Amino acid sequence: MSPLARALPIALLAVLALPSIAVADNAQLERGRYLVQISGCNDCHTSGYLMAPEKVAERDWLKGDNLRWYGPWGTTYPSNLRLVMPKLSESQWLALARQANFRPPMPNLTLHRMTDEDLRAIYQLVKHLGPAGEPAPMALPPGDMPEGPVVMFPMPPKNR
Ligand code: HEC
Repeated sequence: MSPLARALPIALLAVLALPSIAVADNAQLERGRYLVQISGCNDCHTSGYLMAPEKVAERDWLKGDNLRWYGPWGTTYPSNLRLVMPKLSESQWLALARQANFRPPMPNLTLHRMTDEDLRAIYQLVKHLGPAGEPAPMALPPGDMPEGPVVMFPMPPKNR
């Protein structure tokens, strides 16, 4: 067989495979969109989303929020995932999600329980949206009372 005759079927296969790869990617992005809307990521990590989800354009998703979450753990701010996640490789993201142990109200268990496929879909969506926005403010230690809009959790009762 001539080299050309040998290369042809491979080239043909590559061309045939291309559209199916593109379709798979779109399905994965759709899955990512679905997940960040139903599993709460947007509710906390997207400014204004919880109150008016339809008003926030997708390009503004997951850029973090400066709404303060205050409780016995101190004050935390939902991170800007558009800056945090693209710095990781996909496998680093999977490892981080599996070991997630962030402060409240981050639902770590949601990440622990997600399938690899779902975690990958979220990762690919965030990468597709690209880096944007500012890093969330630094967390504050317990007892520091921040100014501005805040969600407050009471101290747990002492005698329980
Ligand atoms: C109820 C609010 C809430 C929801 C829902 C939520 N998060 Fe978070 N998340 C937070 C807060 C607050 C932090 C910061 C925690 C800290 O500072 O320790 C955080 C931190 C994180 C971090 C750590 C980022 C870093 O700074 O290193 C990741 C990753 C993350 N969230 C991903 C997600 C994903 C993915 C979802 C959806 C499945 C989600 N979060 C849903 C509130 C939330």
